[in-house]
Amino acid sequence: MKTTLTVIKADVGSIGGHIMPSKRLLTRVTEVVDSAGKAVFQDRYISFTGDDIAILMTHTLGTGHERVHKLAWDAFVAGTEVAKEEGLYGAGQDLLKDSFSGNVHGLGPACAEMEIEERPNEPFLFFAADKTDPGAYNLPLFLTFADIMTTPGLILSPKLSQGFRWVVMDVNYTDGDRIIELVTPEEIYDLAALLRDNERFVVESIWSRSSGEQCAAVATSRLHNIAGKYTGKDDPVALVRTQMDFPATGEVLAPYSIGHHVAGGMRGSHNMPLMPVALNTSTSYFDGPPLVSCAAFCVHKGKLTEPVDTFAHPFWDEVRSQVSRKAIDMRRQGFNGAAMLPMGELEYTGVMDKLRKLEARFRLRGAEELLPAGILYE
Ligand code: 13P
Ligand code: 13P
Ligand code: MG
Ligand code: MG
Repeated sequence: MKTTLTVIKADVGSIGGHIMPSKRLLTRVTEVVDSAGKAVFQDRYISFTGDDIAILMTHTLGTGHERVHKLAWDAFVAGTEVAKEEGLYGAGQDLLKDSFSGNVHGLGPACAEMEIEERPNEPFLFFAADKTDPGAYNLPLFLTFADIMTTPGLILSPKLSQGFRWVVMDVNYTDGDRIIELVTPEEIYDLAALLRDNERFVVESIWSRSSGEQCAAVATSRLHNIAGKYTGKDDPVALVRTQMDFPATGEVLAPYSIGHHVAGGMRGSHNMPLMPVALNTSTSYFDGPPLVSCAAFCVHKGKLTEPVDTFAHPFWDEVRSQVSRKAIDMRRQGFNGAAMLPMGELEYTGVMDKLRKLEARFRLRGAEELLPAGILYE
């Protein structure tokens, strides 16, 4: 029987701004999940990263299953009640629709899932990021699955040498799932041409060409595309299977030592370096820096081992210091140029309102009349 790994995450309220959920909120979410018990899932792991709570479940119901998704939705709805009672900030922030219909896609919570044929031993990694969007995983995944400098397994292992199939989504398209499939190593430059644009093209899944098995799944939802206005950053989750036919765990973790700049941080509107952090870490400096945590598991007949906190290892202390320096450096240029996101990605309307007002005051030097109103930015 196949095992499904489903992780669904949402921000339904936090203490002290967008920092972290309260203990009571986490307890309530856990109670609701556990009340369904074995009727829905085989095992579960509930954690938080910044102000986002993630519910990871193993089950046999397949991907997108109504009962699994409804359970997570109900837990977040119940959590929202506690958040309201406690007066937490942003209570119910990521629940964008009033009622549940079918699955959580398009309702606000982010979801990554895979249905797998369990190997005799099945190691996998669960990533959760806060204060950023799904494109944050583009570069690390590209380096792990397509770059021989990061992943020696691509040369050393005959299975990895056969390469990978990538499904990439155009997340700006909102009338359906606009996707493209590419294979590496043959189409590595084409893939890079898409993945350079983190805000538009997002890795949705990666598949081994030697076994045909899926090895990675990323939540691709963009909240501003669902809500039509800023309601919070997407804060994506991802699942990556490791070892044997797939990259080794260390090859998947290695790219997070870069601390690459991603969209997010303060008001979801800046470029800030991504900091790998321990599980259940809060957010801090400049509503960031954007953070990513990673729990390593083995799953056997649907039962999860205890999680290993991969970024808690002392190696990552040095990385965190470098990322802090990088974050401070970027913040020194404030609102200007590369520090703030381009117009189309700005999560607030204030800049557009100002430009619209200023537009009427532009004139052509030497001309008598004011120019007809144009549009500075769409
Ligand atoms: P083991 O030989 O300990 O399984 O490790 C192999 C590996 O993938 C290390 O990167
Ligand atoms: P979250 O998406 O994590 O709630 O953060 C929102 C924000 O604007 C932080 O400044
Ligand atoms: Mg929040
Ligand atoms: Mg968040």
